[in-house]
Amino acid sequence: MSLISVRDLRVSFATPQGRLQAVDDVSFDVAPGETLGLVGESGCGKSTLSKALLRLVPVTSGRIEIEGEDIVPFGPRALRRIRPKVQMVFQDPYGSLNPRHRVGTLIGQPLSVAGWGRRQIRDRVAELLEQVGLPRDAAERYPHEFSGGQRQRVVIARALALSPKLVICDEPVSALDVSVRAQVINLFKDLQDRLGVAYLFISHDLSVVENVSDRLIVMYLGRIIESGRAAEIWRRPAHPYTQALLAAAPVPDPKLARQRRRLVLQGELPSPLNPPSGCAFRTRCPQARPRCAADRPPLRALGGAQRVACHFDLADAAPAPVPSDESACV
Ligand SMILES: Nc1ncnc2c1ncn2[C@@H]1O[C@H](COP(=O)(O)OP(=O)(O)O)[C@@H](O)[C@H]1O
Ligand code: SF4
Ligand SMILES: [Mg+2]
Repeated sequence: MSLISVRDLRVSFATPQGRLQAVDDVSFDVAPGETLGLVGESGCGKSTLSKALLRLVPVTSGRIEIEGEDIVPFGPRALRRIRPKVQMVFQDPYGSLNPRHRVGTLIGQPLSVAGWGRRQIRDRVAELLEQVGLPRDAAERYPHEFSGGQRQRVVIARALALSPKLVICDEPVSALDVSVRAQVINLFKDLQDRLGVAYLFISHDLSVVENVSDRLIVMYLGRIIESGRAAEIWRRPAHPYTQALLAAAPVPDPKLARQRRRLVLQGELPSPLNPPSGCAFRTRCPQARPRCAADRPPLRALGGAQRVACHFDLADAAPAPVPSDESACV
């Protein structure tokens, strides 16, 4: 059984300019212990989707099943029962830690809410600090005494306190220095090996997500436009938008970089208040044809687990391969 199963999820906001469809008809599953990566430009609906999974924004329609139970109709009491199963790590380790509390209190917060006793909390906090690679005496110190990477470790420890089955990681390394990103990503992987926790791992940077994910979904203007196994998409992206994201991602392997087709994403993300007709990507798509304005392409199966929302088979389509002398800077 899936740990979480999302079906036809829609989230819209009423704004002074009209209704804004932030998440539109999104379906996916996360299995126990796996990592599903979610990638797309800023404004495509990633955070709204993750907040909807925690019922932190109103769901317009659709289902969110956690271990087979649809939580969309749940009231506050039923939500409190389910909440320990799904936790969240936000981008900003500064904003999400109250500077006036000691680290031990911050990590122990969800435990005291759950009614744990003082001794139990102290022991559990010590165990969590060890798991995220912080010294035991960190519990007595304050958030400002730690670096950005260490603070994100505190946030991760707090998210793990009640042994969740799924942790939603919304841009968890985007605010960190490049030099500490790899360490924090490795910590996520290490914790998954040790604890069997599943992740929904969100980033606007495909190279970050690809590195940790078993499977990937790519979003554009609130909709999934490509999904599949991470290795599959990385090797042979089928949607022109995914191809553009990949072309912009740094590639450590020069051979792969040479094979990769260059495609530069043009123009701005259209307003979700007034999305283009047909394929929402058509205003920026180098392959767009008349049909793209008329019909919206459904998500359809390719080979393997890969699915794409494009009318055409473009995995092997035109743009020239990156010349080898340019590959180093792609
Ligand atoms: N509370 C809200 N009210 C109105 N619009 C919102 C609200 N939250 C997000 N949006 C809009 O929804 C769209 C998706 O935003 P978001 O989910 O934050 O995207 P991402 O996390 O991918 O950057 C954006 O156009 C954003 O302006
Ligand atoms: S459907 Fe048309 S506009 Fe959309 S991605 Fe495919 S070719 Fe481009
Ligand atoms: Mg966001």
